Amino acid sequence: MSSDKYLPIDAKHIPTEEPERQYFFMDLLRDELTARKEEEHREFTMHVETFGCQMNAKDSEKLAGILTYIGYTPVETEDADIVLYNTCTVRENANTRVYGRIGYLGRLKKRRPGMKIILCGCMMQEKEAVEKIKQSYRFVDIIFGTHNIYMLSELLYRSFHEKGMVTDVREEADRIVEDLPSYRKYDFKAGVNIMYGCNNFCTYCIVPYVRGRERSRNPVDIIKETEQLVSEGVKEVMLLGQNVNSYGKTLDPQVSFAELIRDVAKVEGLERVRFMTPHPKDISEELLREVAVNPKICNHIHLPLQSGSTRLLQKMNRHYTKEQFLALTDRIREIIPDVAITTDIIIGFPGETEEDFEDTLDVIRKARFMSAFTFIYSKRSGTPAADMPDQVPEEVSADRMKRLLETVGEVAGAEARKYTGQTVPVLCEVYKKETGCVTGRLENNLLVHFPGEESLLGKIVRVKLDECTGFYYLGTMV
Ligand code: SAH
Ligand code: SF4
Ligand code: F3S
Repeated sequence: MSSDKYLPIDAKHIPTEEPERQYFFMDLLRDELTARKEEEHREFTMHVETFGCQMNAKDSEKLAGILTYIGYTPVETEDADIVLYNTCTVRENANTRVYGRIGYLGRLKKRRPGMKIILCGCMMQEKEAVEKIKQSYRFVDIIFGTHNIYMLSELLYRSFHEKGMVTDVREEADRIVEDLPSYRKYDFKAGVNIMYGCNNFCTYCIVPYVRGRERSRNPVDIIKETEQLVSEGVKEVMLLGQNVNSYGKTLDPQVSFAELIRDVAKVEGLERVRFMTPHPKDISEELLREVAVNPKICNHIHLPLQSGSTRLLQKMNRHYTKEQFLALTDRIREIIPDVAITTDIIIGFPGETEEDFEDTLDVIRKARFMSAFTFIYSKRSGTPAADMPDQVPEEVSADRMKRLLETVGEVAGAEARKYTGQTVPVLCEVYKKETGCVTGRLENNLLVHFPGEESLLGKIVRVKLDECTGFYYLGTMV
């Protein structure tokens, strides 16, 4: 892309290195915004909304960081000068939600002609989605994908100085850009990317197509970011990747995930470390032992099952059998006796029979998950499963979902109740003024509500778990 189209600046002044180039555009935009603020005697606002997973949320923090650096004030609603939707496309309903909301933005923009509407994230990596937006939602100002979120300021600058919609969606990431600003949702906990992309190609999943190939971040950069977060008051970090067990394989020298998490946990002042998501096919004993002995690493493992049927697991390209999964959960409990195991389950995958479904229920009972995210299979065009025969009818999936939720409810309820009467450390995350209640998170990811004060937010305190009401506790601080 030639940079000389960015009138009114002379191309030779635009840095070619990153992140210097982005800071150059951020500073230009900041100067322009400062002038507009003085002219119009008002604040300029922005609203960033996340539609997807933790990685999507982490990207949103970077995008919001760029906008706050420029001088926009974050607000809760879409009645703002800049609205940015960071989209997800993992299931069809994620896309439907986005389209509905863009329509609403169009009506808002009629009342606020200067408003900028920006769409980015996973859904924008799909050509059909971008085409549809170009045709039906022409009021959108900027579209970019997952591989160049660091370029937001440059694209925004172009949008202010060029006519028409600015689009820049890339097939692959050309680099990992470090050291851009970030605006975090919570003061006391944060996600840290350790890798990007996915190479697993589970046959139902769109993520490898919209996030590209697996790339690990340098351990030095991960530790540096963690130290920076801790210096800003963060107590808990979650290490993020689609398959954290393959961390480091592309690095030279190779670093294992267990080695990385051990080093992250050494950061002074950091109190808790979590991670998401390990793939059952290559979780290592080295990692499990590290979780067991390291007091800072939370005894919680999110281990997506997807299906309990060996036949379907094979069609899903998951590389484990029902028996191997159950042997793994047994082994995890042997090494980490007080662990909580949670999962993701898909029902209605093409060809799923009643017998396959019974296998899934069987694994839920035997693996004793503490909670499960449950999804009805959603056909994603371009993935191998979309062309598989015997797509399961909606009524059948709906009925299985009902039965799945009953079984998950029974198992998870019993697992959660096991902690009644214990006194445990919790991280205080939310304070509700109306009820005078604080919500804290246990190491195993369960929540407890207890009477407390706002000043507890971000602190780790000890709470007695008095009563379990379904999936959370009521307690008292001791
Ligand atoms: N990398 C993670 C999960 C990422 S997507 C892992 O491998 O576990 C989060 C969850 O969405 C998946 O675990 C899966 O349960 C669900 N999911 C992915 N594609 C789906 C689809 N096409 N239909 C329904 N659920 C899906
Ligand atoms: Fe999707 Fe499988 Fe990769 Fe997870 S591991 S993101 S489910 S392809
Ligand atoms: Fe996450 Fe959705 Fe993308 S689950 S990786 S935001 S498709």
